[in-house]
Amino acid sequence: MHKSRFFSGIALLALSASGCGLAVASPERDVVVPAEPTLIDFVDPATVIGLSTRTLTEGDSEGSRYVHINYPEFAGADKLNRELRDQAERQLQRFRTRTRDAEPVSPRPELNVDWQLAAASPDAVAVRLRTGEFQGESWANSTRTFWFDPHTREATGSTGLLAGRAALVRLATLVKERLKERGDEVEPGDEVERGDEVERDGGDEFDSMAFNRRGDLVVEFDDCQVGPCSLGRVAVAVPAEQVEPLLSELGRQAQRSVRENRAQGGDKPSFTPTTDPDAVSNRAGSVDCAKVKCVALTFDDGPGPYTGRLLDLLRRERARATFFVVGSNATAQPALVRRMSTEGHLVGNHTWAHRDLSKQGSSKITDTLGKTGDVVSGIIGQMPKLVRPPYGAVSQQVGNVAREMGLSLVTWDVDTDDQNGGKAGDIAERAVREAHPGAIILMHDIHRETVDAVPDILKRLRGKGYSFVTVPELYGSAGMQAGRLYRSGNELPRKQPLT
Ligand code: NI
Repeated sequence: MHKSRFFSGIALLALSASGCGLAVASPERDVVVPAEPTLIDFVDPATVIGLSTRTLTEGDSEGSRYVHINYPEFAGADKLNRELRDQAERQLQRFRTRTRDAEPVSPRPELNVDWQLAAASPDAVAVRLRTGEFQGESWANSTRTFWFDPHTREATGSTGLLAGRAALVRLATLVKERLKERGDEVEPGDEVERGDEVERDGGDEFDSMAFNRRGDLVVEFDDCQVGPCSLGRVAVAVPAEQVEPLLSELGRQAQRSVRENRAQGGDKPSFTPTTDPDAVSNRAGSVDCAKVKCVALTFDDGPGPYTGRLLDLLRRERARATFFVVGSNATAQPALVRRMSTEGHLVGNHTWAHRDLSKQGSSKITDTLGKTGDVVSGIIGQMPKLVRPPYGAVSQQVGNVAREMGLSLVTWDVDTDDQNGGKAGDIAERAVREAHPGAIILMHDIHRETVDAVPDILKRLRGKGYSFVTVPELYGSAGMQAGRLYRSGNELPRKQPLT
């Protein structure tokens, strides 16, 4: 275990090569950034103590839009937590307004927010939110970085790294010079010219700033913000010596802490091909579903704030389940993933950031599934072989990639509809009413009400003679095949994994 530091109630582990002997994947793989120097050196969330995650979702099976907003929460950083929550709610509201009157379209409009840590030390914490919005035919991506000063316990946007408006205007000039060096294609807007903090729909021009390892200030622009949309993300690194005179106290602390991490040799573990065995429940085979009535409870989108309590409940009732974890949540809370595995449950793959896979090309599908599998196998020593596609959405391409990667696709045939703010009693009622031998029951361990419903579900289904098994046990010796889609333990696997 590495040395921990405590300051002002926020306890953070220093960035290190690996936490507690885990080969945990580093999140920067998730970010498409041009080559140095605009590469931000993200902190491995597994090395940060007191970190949990929150999720706002909409539309796993019903509705006209898909929403999945994920953000971190820190022990002892209330103001930062509040900023992140407010931001998430603002984005959700805006997206709802934009898509409210639209006719149902396919593919559905989608809002997705995930996060990385641009800093996490006793001197500075930074959360970079990355938003992807799909409307029409393509994704538009934007970033916003929030900063927190553990000394003053104040949270701020990225301009809080600078010493006031004059510094911002000077920075704008430096950024503009650098953008001009790229040629005519990149044209900074008026806000860059004036250094204005104009709150626009996608955020202002200087809403996402962080330091690279050298201490240069990396200023990121959203898609289409300073150039043609085809350019994608544009970022500029303002050299450390030029930016130093412009920094606020927090800015100096942040720059120093990022440089110190480098001095400590903050190299991340690299990805190595795994030779880990396939993930199975350590109690698989203890129930024969050919002879007794079985159901598979499945919990998606975690681990989250209520997962620990759910694991306690399942252990007490000796029930097992399948957890389809989101990669970014798993990396933030590896201890919960480890518990799932050691307590007889099965860990499955629910992608890195929960974007609809049917809107992605093969390389993106491979990347999000591969990275999540690597993180989980780094934690539990087994490679997940089951994938639950976000929103249950699949395509021929998803099936092809799954087959190549040796993964089976699992959806559900009983939806407890716990996504839409239902009460625990209603969730339990639906689960019990619709359960049948071989059922795959969809639930989400990111909701308090879902976990509240579990004791009742276990008691009533057990009263009807059901055993609670992991998904592969429904299929017994027939097993599950890669690239195929499974909805229920009763039906034969479909020949083609189509929607
Ligand atoms: Ni989900």
